Amino acid sequence: MTQLEAYITEHEGRFLEDLNGWLRIPSISTLPEHAGDVRRAAEYAADQLKAIGFANVGLIQTQGHPLVYGEWLKAAGKPTLLIYGHYDVQPVDPVELWESPPFEPTVRNGNLYCRGACDDKGQTMLVFKALESLMTVNGELPVNVKVLIEGEEEAGGESIEHYVKTYPERLKCDAAFICDTGMAAKDIPSIDIGLRGIIYTEVEVRGARRDLHSGVYGGMAPNPLHALALIISRLKDADGHINVPGLYDKLLPPLPAEKTFWQEDPLHIADMLREEMGVAQFSGEPEYPPLERITARPTLEVHGIIGGFVGEGAKTVIPAVAKAKISLRLPPNLKSAEVFTLFERAVQEVAPPDVTVKVHDLHGGEGLFVSPDSPPMVAATEALKEVYGKTPLFTRSGGSIPIAALFHEVLGMPVVLMGFGLPDDNLHAPNEKYSLDQFYKGIRVVASFLLKMG
Ligand code: BES
Ligand code: MN
Ligand code: MN
Repeated sequence: MTQLEAYITEHEGRFLEDLNGWLRIPSISTLPEHAGDVRRAAEYAADQLKAIGFANVGLIQTQGHPLVYGEWLKAAGKPTLLIYGHYDVQPVDPVELWESPPFEPTVRNGNLYCRGACDDKGQTMLVFKALESLMTVNGELPVNVKVLIEGEEEAGGESIEHYVKTYPERLKCDAAFICDTGMAAKDIPSIDIGLRGIIYTEVEVRGARRDLHSGVYGGMAPNPLHALALIISRLKDADGHINVPGLYDKLLPPLPAEKTFWQEDPLHIADMLREEMGVAQFSGEPEYPPLERITARPTLEVHGIIGGFVGEGAKTVIPAVAKAKISLRLPPNLKSAEVFTLFERAVQEVAPPDVTVKVHDLHGGEGLFVSPDSPPMVAATEALKEVYGKTPLFTRSGGSIPIAALFHEVLGMPVVLMGFGLPDDNLHAPNEKYSLDQFYKGIRVVASFLLKMG
């Protein structure tokens, strides 16, 4: 056994404790009442970096939540790696569906349950622990490292975008590594070569100037909830085709090898996902394989509808206003600003004439597609193979990490998207979990990845 392996094995228990301490801080970035918790979580991350021996560790103030930065730049002549993660988490509702309290890390069946266990505290912490292990055992790191952790990823990530665009020279490096994605399955190691972009909107529909009695006005008053239902139903047909003119015009055809993989699905990933979801059949465009639909096709989803009377019992009211949260996922070459314009136009086009409609742009981000051949990708591939005993697949993920495209496009560097989440980790949902086996394997993979890069 190598010294590194011995160190990791010996300290697994404390690594988990360090993660648990972080997880107990409810750093929900989108809820203003948690701003203090978000800051505490940032300080926790900074303390971790200091303990590893990083220099210039500190919080970077922003318009929103702080960024955490730290660096170790003593590997003369070696490449510099920029490591990104996020310490903020999603809200926990519906809280009654959690089997253990959302911010009390609890191990069941080899899984750690807690909001953020995977996304992204667990994944970020495993990178910290790989750095700690290398530093303690070797007294140095094999490469130069800059760590930048944000606290607004789940809320649109505006501050980091501003920081990266304002100070690109501070983040100068040879490659970026983002540990915020998943693998195809627990025994199918994979690296993402693609992510989708996103636009997140709120569609606001207004009728009369105030709520109306449905007996006195019903029959002539516009109903914004009905109008919203009409709009939504006209934006996407029953076969999953999106009625946003121009949306599909710029789609690039996928690589032939991807097409074959999606069609044949030799690892039966779609079946696994269907069982895990608990549905009898999939929805969506029947002419595309499910794997293509979840990773490389545009989507339009309604996330929530607000309006009218939703309390117990009955109230006869015609609401004055109704709103829907609607997002579109965008394959790499569709630009979020352009798609927002197309979407806004499409909504106005299908809206009934008796209401007024506004479309708000809450946030957006670009997708990306990276080459699997860059030296850091090769190092990541070999590290995964070493720990999992199998050559990893190159996959796309349908999720979005807008900062990845920014690193790629603004800083012009190769980006490695290597994460250890599993499809059933319940990201953003009740009972989020992280497989402890994945956590501990991840530490080993990342340590090996850095050694191979060095
Ligand atoms: N880590 C996820 C993105 C992700 C999940 C990538 C699974 C690959 C596999 C990230 O924290 C996330 O949730 N991103 C948001 C984006 C956003 C702009 C709020 C998303 O994808 O909804
Ligand atoms: Mn994440
Ligand atoms: Mn997330």
